[in-house]
Amino acid sequence: MAIDARTQLLVLLGHPVGHSLSPAMHNAGFHERGRNACYLACDVAPPDVAAAVAGLRALRAAGANVTVPHKEAVLPLMDEVSPTARAAGAVNTIAVRDGRLYGDNTDVGGFLASLAEAGYDPRGRGALLFGAGGAARGVALGLLQAGAGPVWIANRTYGRAVELAKALSVAAGAGVAPGGAGAVAPLAMEAVATVAPRAGLVVNCTSVGLGAAGQSVWNDFSRFPPGTLAVDLVYNPEVTPFLGAAETAGLPTLGGLGMLVHQAALAWEVWFGEKGPVDVFYAAARRALAGDGA
Ligand SMILES: NC(=O)c1ccc[n+]([C@@H]2O[C@H](COP(=O)([O-])OP(=O)(O)OC[C@H]3O[C@@H](n4cnc5c(N)ncnc54)[C@H](OP(=O)(O)O)[C@@H]3O)[C@@H](O)[C@H]2O)c1
Repeated sequence: MAIDARTQLLVLLGHPVGHSLSPAMHNAGFHERGRNACYLACDVAPPDVAAAVAGLRALRAAGANVTVPHKEAVLPLMDEVSPTARAAGAVNTIAVRDGRLYGDNTDVGGFLASLAEAGYDPRGRGALLFGAGGAARGVALGLLQAGAGPVWIANRTYGRAVELAKALSVAAGAGVAPGGAGAVAPLAMEAVATVAPRAGLVVNCTSVGLGAAGQSVWNDFSRFPPGTLAVDLVYNPEVTPFLGAAETAGLPTLGGLGMLVHQAALAWEVWFGEKGPVDVFYAAARRALAGDGA
């Protein structure tokens, strides 16, 4: 559809944004659905984030996505925030509604949707997460909302795991886990092998594994029970060293592309009131990853 005076504007606010697959996915979706909208990636330096968010309102943009490192910084700039974004402490999707900014978090639902797509139900099952950053917080929150537990958080910097477990326990106690929150506990990296036999799910929420020469945050999957699902949030490459090591131990695996695609599909609900086309997003993301654009 040609861009004209009625084209709706959506942007990604991040720093950097050159690697992002979101423009490829959303613009392919707009084309497929015949929606008169355009999605652009904007590299916004941290000191400029408030001005960029104010610009959404001034330009009467339809909305935005927010990525690293701005997801936490934009939250207090919203007029209204969803309960999930509030509990996650992060906004990844903004809708501009009658000049008001509504902040939501579709990373949480995107992760759960990718688990569901893989046929995995986390309810009542233990989960071990590596990492204690923003992604780990969203994943842990989603797992608690889905009734998983216990959720163990192992991180290179143990103090951050302690802080995250404390924050999640408070959020769960405030009633944001309608499925029945399980316990959340920090875990020293040396203790991973001791809880592994009780995990149904193990997730890499660190940035380790990104890119061609990636490492794995964990290599010994021999203590995890057969059938434990190993998930990596990193999606480039699609099979990371973490997933490769889990596969070698005979475990089923799931890459991070599904979470990316499903958070995008859920962002359409926030912006347009309809879910985005998942199949179109997968195809566009894979084309972009293969390097032939979208
Ligand atoms: N698939 C998706 O849709 C999706 C969505 C969100 C995020 N992600 C991915 O998830 C990853 C994490 O994102 P984030 O926003 O949580 O980042 P973040 O807030 O910067 O957190 C990074 C985490 O990685 C750990 N880490 C970094 N380098 C490490 C190393 N060499 N060894 C061990 N641990 C290391 C950090 O540990 P310390 O605390 O010790 O520094 C921290 O726990 C990124 O790769 C991101 O692209 C994917």
